[in-house]
Amino acid sequence: MLLVLAGSNLIPVGAALISGAVIWAATALIVGRFVNDLTTIRDAVDDLDPEDATGPARLVTRGLASPARELWIAILRLRRLWYERFRVANERLAAAEAVIAAVPDPLLLLDERRRIVRANAQAAGLIALTPEPRDLAVALRNPTILAAADAVLRGDRARVIDFSLNVPFERQLRARFARIDHPSPDGAVAVLTLHDITELKRAEQMRADFIANASHELRTPLATLLGFIETLQGPARDDAEAHERFLAIMHGQASRMTRLVEDLMSLSRIELNEHVLPKDRVALSPLLHHIAESLELRAAERRMHIQLSAPPDLPDVLGDRDELAQVFQNLIDNAIKYGRAGSEITVCAQSGSPPRESSGAESTMVSVSVCDQGEGIPREHLPRLTERFYRVDTARSREMGGTGLGLAIVKHILNHHRGLLEVESTPGVGSVFTVFLRVYTDRSDAAASTMLR
Ligand SMILES: Nc1ncnc2c1ncn2[C@@H]1O[C@H](COP(=O)(O)OP(=O)(O)OP(=O)(O)O)[C@@H](O)[C@H]1O
Ligand SMILES: [Mg+2]
Repeated sequence: MLLVLAGSNLIPVGAALISGAVIWAATALIVGRFVNDLTTIRDAVDDLDPEDATGPARLVTRGLASPARELWIAILRLRRLWYERFRVANERLAAAEAVIAAVPDPLLLLDERRRIVRANAQAAGLIALTPEPRDLAVALRNPTILAAADAVLRGDRARVIDFSLNVPFERQLRARFARIDHPSPDGAVAVLTLHDITELKRAEQMRADFIANASHELRTPLATLLGFIETLQGPARDDAEAHERFLAIMHGQASRMTRLVEDLMSLSRIELNEHVLPKDRVALSPLLHHIAESLELRAAERRMHIQLSAPPDLPDVLGDRDELAQVFQNLIDNAIKYGRAGSEITVCAQSGSPPRESSGAESTMVSVSVCDQGEGIPREHLPRLTERFYRVDTARSREMGGTGLGLAIVKHILNHHRGLLEVESTPGVGSVFTVFLRVYTDRSDAAASTMLR
């Protein structure tokens, strides 16, 4: 402008040059100061620690011009705000990660392409996972599971599928798929949890088996009774000799049904109290003598003798006298039934250590062994002997009036007593059933009341 004015001779050239130089110097002074301040602010921003909003800022506002100082203060305010949001977001993320890790069931997150983008440690213990996202089909090759996953990825809200996994051992699992409303930054759009339902299925199966077995056991004597009643009402109506014979059989069958019902009720009573430790002090020697005496007559019918040995200083045990009587009655009764006619049954009580594999058991326990000389039990039957209605030879057990519940009752009574049962048997030689019971101590009373609370 000055040049135009000077060219038009409106102002002298010298004055224009001097004025230009003065204006340029003044502008350079003002703008240069701002540029300097901005460069200082840029360097200070570069220098800020993004992880620590509370740390000191290198720049002090003292030397800055007023607008630059305000800009710097605004930057620091923004930094504090940003850091606060960053901290909250980080805490939320950590909490979400902790929740995923704390879920007791295996949990997997899937993306739109059915790839596993995240999994908790429990999932890693169950199925083979790779560090990079891989298709769910690589970890679980079950077509029903994959179809359910696809349905959820296509838009279904949730799916529940029960399936079995055979490796490394067989178990039943319940898979639950659910869609995630807000996809996560790693692309997860669906969550899959796997819940182990092996125990549940086993319990369901056991309940079904139990009902089937109990009804079968009751139906057999009932059918016999009905058959005889019809015969007595029909063809044998006037046959006095048949009356006597059939009524004796009917009496036997009715007694069998009564025994079965009594055993079932006894079993359910014991199960009901199984979590409460008995607290009485039981002297075993007199109890064993009493039971041996009461069974001596039955043993004599098979020309057998019960030999009892118990040291005079045998410690008392913690227990319920009636339940323990039931245990020894059942074991000696089995020895009479399954021992060889004319052989001897020995019942031997002593104090000693519990079996080695029983971790957490008392350091001293009292053991009572019932040994018979009989046909013994083949090894493959041993693990199942205490199952309800399980018999090695069903027909023979029934023929002898057995319900197949004796050892199940023994096992539940011992569970109630926190005791143990050990079975050793040699086919052709005989069997030894050993019961381990806790010794009664003055502290037992306190332990029992603790359990009750
Ligand atoms: N001492 C033994 N020797 C050989 N087999 C035995 C002996 N004790 C038990 N068993 C086998 O275990 C099975 C289960 O025994 P358990 O006492 O539960 O039933 P049970 O004797 O048949 O009937 P219950 O006891 O109800 O009268 C028996 O049927 C028998 O096959
Ligand atoms: Mg029995």
